[in-house]
Amino acid sequence: MLSQAAIKKIEEVQKKYPTKRSAVLPSLFIAQEEQGWVTKEAMAEIAKVLAIPPTQVYESATFYTMYNKKPVGKYHVQVCANLSCSLLGAEHVINYISKKLNIKTGETSSDKKFTLSTVECLGSCDTAPMLQLNDEYHENLTEEKIDKLLDSLD
Ligand code: FES
Repeated sequence: MLSQAAIKKIEEVQKKYPTKRSAVLPSLFIAQEEQGWVTKEAMAEIAKVLAIPPTQVYESATFYTMYNKKPVGKYHVQVCANLSCSLLGAEHVINYISKKLNIKTGETSSDKKFTLSTVECLGSCDTAPMLQLNDEYHENLTEEKIDKLLDSLD
């Protein structure tokens, strides 16, 4: 269940758009910000608030990788695996992080600290290979940079 505060935010955000459907993406972010991921119940609530069919919310939530469809760890490590990043070593980055965290892509560590995911292009191709850690980009990755980044997290 979304909180009343989240529902109010969704009601407010929809006023910024010409159509209610245009407010789906920011509404999904509001739900994810509150719950850490987007549940099917949250999608249904968003549809209800926006007065649109639930399928329109569901199709957006499942199309975009930035919406978590299951719980994630405290730190969500999202490695871009698209073309530019692949050409510049994304597979090595993924394997390196996977080994370091002892989890496979799509998994969350048993202590719920880390989730490792691969995602589509994050629009930072000129600094490939790169990853997004929660809301922050980390670019031009090397093993040393990955070590420094992951070792700094408590
Ligand atoms: S391909 Fe990785 S950011 Fe574009």
